[in-house]
Order: sequence, then structure tokens, then C-alpha cells
Amino acid sequence: MDPTSPNMAYQKLVDLILQRLGLQLNDHRLASLTKVVDGLVSSSVSLSVNQLYQQLETADISTVVWQQIVQALTVGETYFYRNSAHVNALSLHVLPALIKARRLAGDKRLRLWSAGCATGEEPYTLAMILHDVLPDFKDWSITILATDINERYLQQARIGHYRPHSFRGETPPWVQSRWFRKSGDGFVIDASLRSMVTFMPLNLVQDSYPSRDNNTTDLDLVLCRNVTIYFDRVQTKAVAERFFQTLIPGGWLIVGHSEPQAGVYDCFVTHHIQNAILYQKPVRAAPVTMPRSKEPDIVRLPVKPPVLEEKDHFSIWTDAYHAANNEEWDTAIRLLKMIEDDVTYQKQVQYLRGLIFMHQGFVEEAAVALRLSIHYDPDFVLAHYTLGELHDKAGEQLMACQHWQTAQRILVGLDPEQTLPFADDLTVEMLNGLLSYQLRKYC
Ligand SMILES: C[S@@+](CC[C@H](N)C(=O)[O-])C[C@H]1O[C@@H](n2cnc3c(N)ncnc32)[C@H](O)[C@@H]1O
Repeated sequence: MDPTSPNMAYQKLVDLILQRLGLQLNDHRLASLTKVVDGLVSSSVSLSVNQLYQQLETADISTVVWQQIVQALTVGETYFYRNSAHVNALSLHVLPALIKARRLAGDKRLRLWSAGCATGEEPYTLAMILHDVLPDFKDWSITILATDINERYLQQARIGHYRPHSFRGETPPWVQSRWFRKSGDGFVIDASLRSMVTFMPLNLVQDSYPSRDNNTTDLDLVLCRNVTIYFDRVQTKAVAERFFQTLIPGGWLIVGHSEPQAGVYDCFVTHHIQNAILYQKPVRAAPVTMPRSKEPDIVRLPVKPPVLEEKDHFSIWTDAYHAANNEEWDTAIRLLKMIEDDVTYQKQVQYLRGLIFMHQGFVEEAAVALRLSIHYDPDFVLAHYTLGELHDKAGEQLMACQHWQTAQRILVGLDPEQTLPFADDLTVEMLNGLLSYQLRKYC
């Protein structure tokens, strides 16, 4: 074939894209490539496909011409709180384990990286979860690095304006009311979250990390979900090995469900936590910042958490509830710990924890637990009601009213005589009455 023929030039372009971006092109993407290449050629950025190839071969990915190709070929599919198994694992295991380890080491610092962050929903979700699991949030130094190859996505992420499509499926409804303000046809993220995340371009296929220059060293956690699905196995393995180098001993890597698995993450220890598969860099030497086997239940999670019978869990929860009613806080907390790995019991475990913390006067811890409870069941009316009370006591009227209003909305259409679960004899009508009173008085 004539090496200067358009077909040959196209093939070279496809190879160059695989080599430089890691992207394998299916038919749909080939069509997108053809469209963008035709556009570039006809707008005479280059006179021919071959000249375009030569230009791209030496140009940096950040150049306008490369970015046009990147924007045509990358898929920015994402949303807040994507993949509830990952969110649960992060909220209940990974982040609490890292936080505990850092606390023990007296080093209140966390370094997290969302690699392939698209328009920012993933790193902002991390920031939101951290707010919930870290009661003394303000005392910590937190770095959330968020990178992508598509600079237009990064720009959107920095602006932090989102359409309703970013809140869908698994996104809990309170995320929007708590962290966003309406603006035009979308929602703007709270400035406090925006300031937590640093967005910058980084091509995962290039050997530019780990490096202090781009802040990709000594990381506690790397999230790289739904990015390498488009890479071939060789590229993916190289990326996984570089991630390994970026992490501290005991640090975690979370990849997407459909990311290729076999052999790619061999250097990591694999953990199955409920429905999530997570990878952890082994703790070989005693690191300064992470404890080792002293904390086996926290840092090194069992491959399969023990599963008790449904009935057992129910009676354990009930015992915890009675213990709490008798103000036997330690017993109640100990019992709740026994069932905390059962995702089907999370909403009531966290709810009861919230009540216990509230009675003990641990306001921030109570708020974390109640929010987690709502995370597991956004329609859990008692958790909304109680969180409203908590905000009310803290003088946060707006938040209190939001939760009470949500609680009242949830009750609409329910049988007034029906008793509410986890609330002894409280009926829908009684709670409705209480809510109406609070809303009239304070909202
Ligand atoms: C489907 S999105 C994933 C977003 C987010 N991680 C999630 O799971 O919700 C994939 C992202 O990977 C980015 N990407 C693709 N190739 C990349 C590369 N070589 N280096 C960095 N990012 C890349 C794309 O630009 C896109 O934003």
C-alpha cells in the first residue's frame, strides 16, 4: 500500500492514538475520529491526513489539535456517588481505616487521587464523603488531586456547574440540596468542596507519575474507575504498576467493575468487601504513617467478612436498641459493631449510632452516622427527622428545615395509622403532627 495513501495514514493515526492515549478504537470511535480528522483537514489545520499525522506525532497532548481528537474520542460518563458498592466500601472501610491509621500516627493528612476524573463528579464525591466520615475535618490537611486527559472536562470540573444528569441513579437526593445551589438550568457546587479539589491534566499512559512535580507520590488512595476499560492489557498493567508506586504501603487502589482483572493487579492484595473488589498495596515494612498488624481488623480487611443469619442480625440490632434505651451505650455500640458489615442493616445500624452519639453529646459523630443512614435509605424518615433535630440544636435552621420538609414529603400517602419501623409505637400521623409543628414554628 502507498504509505502516503489516506487509508495508510488513517491506520498510522489509529496506532498513534493507541500509543499516546492508550485508547483502542471501536467502530463508533473510528467514525468519530474520521469526522474530526475530516474537519481538521478541511479547515486546513493540515493539508492531508498524512501531514496531520506528522504534526500529531511530535506535538504535546495539550495542543489544540490533539485536544480536538481527545475530545472526540473520550467518554466522560460519570455522576455523583457512582457505584454504591464503592461508596459504601469507601465510607465504611477504606477511609475510616486510613483515618484511624493516620490518627494513631498523629499525622492528620490524607492524599487522594481521582485519575480519569472526567467532569469532576468523582473527586467531589470523595470530598463529600470525607466531610461525613471526618468529624474533625477542619484539623486535617487533605489533598484531592483530580486529573484527566480531556482539558475541556477539567475546565467544566473547575467551574463546578452541573446538569441534572450528574445526579442520577445511585446519587442520594440530599446531595443536591446539601452541596449545590440552583443556577440557571443546573446546579453550582459549594465553594468549600471546590476548594478541596485540584484539577490538572495528566495522561495516564505517559510515564509522568509518580512524581513530586505533579503531586502523585505518597498517596493513600487512588480511584481510577472506568478509564482503563478502553486501554489494552499491556497499557493497563503499566498504569496499575505506576499506581502501585504512587501509593504508600497499605494504600488503596479502586478501579471500575468492568476494568480488566486477570493478572493486572497481581502486585496488590485483593479485598472483597461486600460487592466491591478493592486493591491494597501490601504493608511490607513498618511505615511511619500506617500501623501494621496491630490493627488487622481495620487495615487488613478479611477477604470474606463472616456472614451471620438474617435472624441473628435482627436480634443483635434489637438487643442494641434495647441497650441504647437503657443508656448502656458501650454495649449498644459493641453490638452494632457485630453487624456493621451487613449492608442490609446499615441504615438502622447508622441510625442507632446517630441516636447514641446524639445522647452522648457527640454532635458531629451523630451527624455523620445519620447522614450515612440516609445514604443507605434516602427515604428513611426517622433519620431525616433526627438529623433535622440535630441541626436545629446546632442552630443550623436551614438544614433542619430541609430535613424536616423531606421527612414530611416521605410521609405523604402513607397510612396515618401505620407505625414507623425502628420507632416503637410512633405512627405516621404522630410524626406528621410533630413535623408540622416544627415546620410551622421554625421554618
Ligand atoms: C468514563 S470517564 C470516568 C469518570 C469517573 N472516573 C467515573 O468512573 O465516574 C473516563 C475518563 O477517562 C479519561 N481518560 C481516557 N484516557 C485517558 C488517559 N490516557 N489519561 C487520563 N485520562 C484518560 C477520559 O477523558 C474520561 O474523562
